[in-house]
Amino acid sequence: MRQDRIGFLAMLPLLAGLAGPAAGAPPAAGVPPSNRFVATPYLQSVTTDGVTVCFETAQPCESRVRFGAGDAMEFEVAAPRPATRHQARLSGLPAGAICAYRVEVPGLPPQAGSFRTAPDGPAAVRIVAWGDNQDSPGRFGPLVRRMLALAPDLAVGLGDLVGWGDIPSHWPRDFLGPAAELLRRVPFFSAHGNHDGEKGFAEVLSQPGNERYFAVTYAGIRLIFLDPRFDEGDPGIRPWGRQHRWIRNELDSDAFRRARFRLVFLHHPPYSEGFWPWYGGEKEVREHLVPLFEAAGVDVVFSGHHHGYERGQWPRDRGVHYVVSGGGGAFQDPFHWRDLPQIEFSRAGRHFLLIEGGPDRLRVTAIDEAGNAFDTFTREAHPDAP
Ligand SMILES: [Fe+2]
Repeated sequence: MRQDRIGFLAMLPLLAGLAGPAAGAPPAAGVPPSNRFVATPYLQSVTTDGVTVCFETAQPCESRVRFGAGDAMEFEVAAPRPATRHQARLSGLPAGAICAYRVEVPGLPPQAGSFRTAPDGPAAVRIVAWGDNQDSPGRFGPLVRRMLALAPDLAVGLGDLVGWGDIPSHWPRDFLGPAAELLRRVPFFSAHGNHDGEKGFAEVLSQPGNERYFAVTYAGIRLIFLDPRFDEGDPGIRPWGRQHRWIRNELDSDAFRRARFRLVFLHHPPYSEGFWPWYGGEKEVREHLVPLFEAAGVDVVFSGHHHGYERGQWPRDRGVHYVVSGGGGAFQDPFHWRDLPQIEFSRAGRHFLLIEGGPDRLRVTAIDEAGNAFDTFTREAHPDAP
């Protein structure tokens, strides 16, 4: 975590006479004239009562965020000290509510947005997901506009969000810039990909827990994020590793068992027919995680890494669905190196996923660059879930 990344700690009642600067107003005294938004507001870690608003400025500066349910901006959080990376936690909001916010930085135009807090229980929700946009903002941008047109409640990255995550300029260039209009109103979570770097990923994103593996419940759906290559100084996803212990506890938890649908997101797929002759998917994921997924009743494992689309169910007709979706922008692999029983359908081509969750059924649809759905499947809710 960099020294200049700050969290906003205080939630203050809105005070009269604290009106922010108007768009186009001349810089206030003491404001660096070279200041600008390197990244406009992007939303993370949504819960039933709040969200984290992140943004980056070129110069260290003060900032505050006004917010509230509906159009009422009745609360505000203020940064405790000047910073370039800003992370404001908005809280105290009602569940499943449309909320508005406005970021105010002295001397810069205010940045307004809105979002929906997580529903408190099963509800009809739309989640968009993509993988491997990497260093192709020109191809990612049009896909983002198609995602936004579907009015999603939540967005999920499958990893490789940028060309190289430890180069700071790649985040606004490859991800935060081309996805700005989506991210200012649709909260997102992301799996960590091998292009996302270590320091950069930790600085730019604001995710639960250690930010690399964590789980959240959203509208009755359990979303589990894993990072099999995360180096914590122990064997990770091998049975005696920290992450393996964590996922075993997660799969045994009430939160997991009570969920109507159980989804896993991790960048490196257990199975792939198309990524280089020697690959075939991640051996350690197959050996150490897939048996846990099967035993616990995971519904779908979403991955990226291979630049294409692959889908299958294993064991066939009753097992876990596996989806590889590396179509967010990077070049597409036109290869088909092997036939695996776990993969039933594959194709190269840029695309994204629409995950529609409802009380009783979850539908996953793959949508291409032209907006056409080219594959879909459904899962029924777990009967023992409330
Ligand atoms: Fe990758």
